[in-house]
Amino acid sequence: MINNLKAIEKEFEAKIKGVTDEKTLEQMKKEFLGKDSVIAQAGMHMKSASVEEKKEIGKLSNILKAKFMRHFDELTHKFKTFELNKRLEGEKIDLSIPGVKLDFYNKHPLNLVIDEIYTIFSELGFDLVDGTELETDEYCFQKLNLPIGHPARDMQDTFYINEKLVLRTHCTNMTARALTEAAKNLTKNSYVSSVSYGNVYRRDDDDATHSHQFMQIDGFALGDKISFANLRWVLDYMCKRLFGEATKIRMRPSYFPFTEPSVEVDITCVTCKGAGCNICKQTGFVEILGAGMISPKVLTLNNIDPEQKTGLAFGIGVERIAMLKYGIKNIRDFYENDVRFLKQFKFFGE
Ligand code: DAH
Repeated sequence: MINNLKAIEKEFEAKIKGVTDEKTLEQMKKEFLGKDSVIAQAGMHMKSASVEEKKEIGKLSNILKAKFMRHFDELTHKFKTFELNKRLEGEKIDLSIPGVKLDFYNKHPLNLVIDEIYTIFSELGFDLVDGTELETDEYCFQKLNLPIGHPARDMQDTFYINEKLVLRTHCTNMTARALTEAAKNLTKNSYVSSVSYGNVYRRDDDDATHSHQFMQIDGFALGDKISFANLRWVLDYMCKRLFGEATKIRMRPSYFPFTEPSVEVDITCVTCKGAGCNICKQTGFVEILGAGMISPKVLTLNNIDPEQKTGLAFGIGVERIAMLKYGIKNIRDFYENDVRFLKQFKFFGE
């Protein structure tokens, strides 16, 4: 057996020199280390060999195995490097060829509106808060004075994931979350205000002005002396910034379970500037958002004492603002990603 091993070493040395490709290398691996190889036979032979012989055969076959493997590894590496270099050579980049021109458009019109409103509120000192689209029934409804079974839920009831989780029907869930969070550190004179935006989902039939999924911006301010006059000022200021200095707002009494009093806010019609036209149904005004003073009930539900703090709140439909601002007639245009639509916004925004 020892002689066999010595002979195979010689044979290996002679053959390995002639290996010039991966295929032959694989064959050699099989021949010299595979299950019919002399090394494998030596292993079998050891079972019946004497102690002395075992030692000698074991040692020699280990040395040979290591030697074979080292050569195989070296060659594998050599062939791989060669292949790679060959490929790189073929892939040389010609920097003198003119590039492919990409069309860069502007931000999506909904993002333009969100950016603009966020800028206004951050200048007014509001925090900007990220929201969650998948919300618990508790924060979407219960903490906003919409207990289980409340009829006002019917207007919104939508996509339940299970008994407790729902795709939020409005961004007011973040106002509930922010109020609960704020309640932990409220002191005399402390003041909290934030806005949040994102997708909301409703059981709505899709048409030119309605979509079962759309975007909202919801905000609130809570403090010791926040009044309805503050609410009016904030919304008036925002509308003038969004639609121009000449814009007037009008507040109409309305109902939301989480605000008391509640109002629907209109602005002078962007098309006819208040004169009366088809868009505003001859009224001179178009509705743009809902708002109100946070209901004492909601403050209590979020662990805030309504005797100590008051708050203003509002919820804005982003699509509605964008449609009025840019004269868009069909809400679906926002979602279809048609570049002919999107590229019209190239000159808006920054
Ligand atoms: N969440 C209301 C809706 O989706 C809008 C709204 C109204 C939000 C009044 C508010 C608010 O924060 O104070 O119709």
